Amino acid sequence: MSTTPAFLSAQDLHKTYRVRSGLFGASRTLHAVSGVGFDIPAGNTFGLVGESGSGKSTLARLLLAAEPATAGTLHIDGQPLSLRNTRARKAFHRLIQPVLQDPYASLNPMMRIGEIVAEPMRVHGLLQGKALQARVTSLLESVGLMPDLAVRYPNQLSGGQRQRVAIARALGLSPRALVLDEPVSALDVSIQAQILNLLKEIQRAQALTYVLISHDLAVVAYMSDQIGVLYLGEFMEIGPRDAVLRHPAHPYTRTLIAASETRVDAAATGALAAPTEIPSPVALPAGCRYQARCQHVTARCREEKPVLRGLAGTHRVACHFDLTPNTPYPHKVHT
Ligand SMILES: Nc1ncnc2c1ncn2[C@@H]1O[C@H](COP(=O)(O)OP(=O)(O)O)[C@@H](O)[C@H]1O
Ligand SMILES: [Mg+2]
Repeated sequence: MSTTPAFLSAQDLHKTYRVRSGLFGASRTLHAVSGVGFDIPAGNTFGLVGESGSGKSTLARLLLAAEPATAGTLHIDGQPLSLRNTRARKAFHRLIQPVLQDPYASLNPMMRIGEIVAEPMRVHGLLQGKALQARVTSLLESVGLMPDLAVRYPNQLSGGQRQRVAIARALGLSPRALVLDEPVSALDVSIQAQILNLLKEIQRAQALTYVLISHDLAVVAYMSDQIGVLYLGEFMEIGPRDAVLRHPAHPYTRTLIAASETRVDAAATGALAAPTEIPSPVALPAGCRYQARCQHVTARCREEKPVLRGLAGTHRVACHFDLTPNTPYPHKVHT
C-alpha cells in the first residue's frame, strides 16, 4: 500500500464476456480481467504492460467507465464509481479521459480538428462561442500544434500530429487523470519519444495521474512510477518501477525484460522468436495462468493458483517460488 492517498484506486476488478464459438456453438465465459487491483497516487504514472490479449484495453474501458465491471470497485479521488446515475457518470468522465492507440481511428475523419477538440467541452456545456474558440487555440498550442491546424481534417495531419490532437481533446475537460492505451504504438519510433515527452511535460504542468498501457516494456519503463505486469487478465507482478525492472521476481517479467533488451540484436540477426500465442481466456487452466509458458512449471503450479504476495515494500509477485529479487537467475526449481 502506498503512503500517499490514492487518486485512482481499483479493487478486485473482474470483467467477463459471454462468447460463442461459431453460430451454433455453446456460449462460454471469457475471463478478460480477473481480480485486478491497484492504487495510484495523484500525479503518478501507473504503467500496465502485457502482450496482446492480456486484458489491457478491457481494463482501460473499466477505468474510463466505458463499460461496467462484472465485479470489483473503482474509486477516483476517494469517490466510488457508480455507473447507474448519469450525472455521476458525467462527473466521472470529466475527471478521467482517454487517449487511445490509433488516433486515426479515434478521430472522426469528417470533423475539422478544431471541432474535434471542442466537442467534449461542448457536450459537457463548458464553453461556447469565442471563449470555446480561444480555449481550442490554447489547447492546440499546449500540445505543440499551430492553431491554424484547427481548420484541417485528420487525414491532412501526420500520425504524431493526430496523437497531439487526441491529447488536446482529452485535456479540454481539465481532467485529473488520463488513461493512455498504447498511445505511441501506431507511431514511428522517431515520433514516439516526442509524444512521450509531451505527455510527461503535460503531466508535470497539470499534476495529472496517468494509467499508461503498452505492450512495449521500454515505453512503460520510461514513463512509470509503478508497473503492473498483466498476463491473461491477472497481475503476475506489480510494484515500484525500479523494483520490478531491477529485481523482477516473476518468470514472465524476466522474459519480457530479456525480450526487450535483446530485441535490437535479435532483429538484426533475424533470430527474433515469434512468441507462442497467449492461451485462450475461455479455457483457463487450473492453477497458475502462466504455466503453459513457464520454464519452471511444477505440479503445484498446475493445481494451486499463486496469489500476489509481498516482496520488499509494495513489490508483489504471483509465483509459488522464491525467485527472491536478488537471487541470480535462472534459478533451480525442484519438481
Ligand atoms: N467485447 C468483448 N467481447 C468478447 N471478448 C472480448 C471483448 N473485449 C475483449 N475481449 C477479449 O478479452 C481478452 C482481452 O482483450 P483486450 O482487453 O483487448 O487485451 P489487450 O488490450 O491486452 O490486447 C481477449 O481475449 C479479447 O478477445
Ligand atoms: Mg489493447
